[in-house]
Amino acid sequence: MKIILLGAPGVGKGTQAELICDHFNIPHISTGKLFRLNVAEGSDLGLQVNEYIKKGKLVPDYLTISLVEDRLNKDDCKNGFLLDGFPRDENQAKELELFLNKKGEHIDKVLLIEVSEKVILDRIAGRRVCPKCGESYNVKYNPSKVGDKCQVCGSELIQRSDDKEEVVLERLAIYNKVTKPIIDYYNALGVLYRIQGEDDINDIFKSILAILETD
Ligand code: AP5
Ligand code: MG
Repeated sequence: MKIILLGAPGVGKGTQAELICDHFNIPHISTGKLFRLNVAEGSDLGLQVNEYIKKGKLVPDYLTISLVEDRLNKDDCKNGFLLDGFPRDENQAKELELFLNKKGEHIDKVLLIEVSEKVILDRIAGRRVCPKCGESYNVKYNPSKVGDKCQVCGSELIQRSDDKEEVVLERLAIYNKVTKPIIDYYNALGVLYRIQGEDDINDIFKSILAILETD
């Protein structure tokens, strides 16, 4: 199964992606998470993308598209994958379609998670992440079982550099301007499914499973 998770910052893409990928045993490909791990490692790519991420701007396509294509060429993507945070504008959506078409493949389902801006701001204010392994938590809704440490690797949890309110507002503005138009793109292809994302994490997952398990 080849899936795209679409939605504004903070709607719960990463949270649902983990549950979906565990259930179907497919890789979770989050461009944001890959970029953040590169920033934490201080790699060449990390140094190049950090300036964009900190300001809430999109990383340029020449860095993003090759990263995704290299990842999709790995063996573990043969039986499916979930893309989280990519594509993010019409050009990326078209490049992805071309890339998959060349291999005789296509996206099966695009899940659009929808949440009001008020709920998004509340969720992002409470988000804490592990700088080492990328695991994500929420002080109110999904706390780590070991306090302010990561329950996977034990590192001290931090706030994302782009979770300051002024940067979140910039990310939301960019989503509304350049990402939202790809909803129509996938709707026209007949693969778009809308998910109400304000329930609790497990109820949302159940409605996603119902969609993914129907032909
Ligand atoms: P990216 O990492 O993709 O960030 P985003 O799209 O802004 O989304 P978030 O990760 O902020 O939110 P999410 O939907 O994953 O929510 P989460 O599950 O964490 O991108 C970051 C940056 O990288 C971009 O700004 C850009 O610079 C760059 N970038 C990435 N991809 C790019 C691309 N393709 N092209 C160019 N640049 C790119 O949930 C949020 C919080 O809410 C968590 O604390 C969670 O625990 C909690 N929560 C989740 N679900 C629920 C629920 N149902 N109830 C209560 N709390 C919940
Ligand atoms: Mg995320």
